[in-house]
Amino acid sequence: MSGRGGRDGPGYRAWVSASPTSARTAFLKAFLRRPSTMGAIAPSSERLGAVLASVVPRTGTPTVVELGPGTGAVSAVIARRLPPGSRHLAVELDPAMVAHLRRAHPDLEVVPGDARRLPELLAERGVTRADAVVCGLPWALFDDRTQAELLAGISAVIGDDGAFTTFAYLHGMALPAAQRFRSTLRRTFDEVQVSATVWRNLPPAFVYVCRRPAR
Ligand SMILES: C[S@@+](CC[C@H](N)C(=O)[O-])C[C@H]1O[C@@H](n2cnc3c(N)ncnc32)[C@H](O)[C@@H]1O
Repeated sequence: MSGRGGRDGPGYRAWVSASPTSARTAFLKAFLRRPSTMGAIAPSSERLGAVLASVVPRTGTPTVVELGPGTGAVSAVIARRLPPGSRHLAVELDPAMVAHLRRAHPDLEVVPGDARRLPELLAERGVTRADAVVCGLPWALFDDRTQAELLAGISAVIGDDGAFTTFAYLHGMALPAAQRFRSTLRRTFDEVQVSATVWRNLPPAFVYVCRRPAR
């Protein structure tokens, strides 16, 4: 873990019980400031977080990478699953979200930067592989090239043994861009599972669970 207190330290419990109200306010402010990078008006629900985090190992000392953690709603769910001694890195672009995460979740290894540079950002921290990549990035806002760059980095990081989860909003599936993204996932990974709809989320969403980058 980073030098920010460790997963076994007292800050860890504070993180897991961080105030959801202040998180929601911070999230909404970030959305109003930068709607084109937030892509949502509210943090993911606990239930959606649980489905996203279902690929996080509960044993051993895994390395988990989160992309676009926002205010840390999903980070908290991941943290509760992770065994002591694990690593949990979170790559976030928005400086205000980075500041919020460092305040509210002091034991998370916050990595400020663009997820398009994922392999480099991780290599700078001595990480070349992750057991799981849990992603909250707003895919619908990215063009095809950006999606391809992101998926190439994620594929390199999970390798043949890791897993990648990300979510999409149900209402968005009517849009051609969302259908294209699903096809891109199916071309990029040998295994792409689609979860049941998580109705207890605003708006309702579902999760893609992807494994084994296609060659
Ligand atoms: C829809 S929010 C999801 C937040 C959180 N994971 C959740 O589910 O509540 C998207 C987050 O991705 C971040 N983001 C957008 N583009 C990014 C990029 N290229 N690299 C890293 N983070 C990015 C935004 O700043 C925002 O915090």
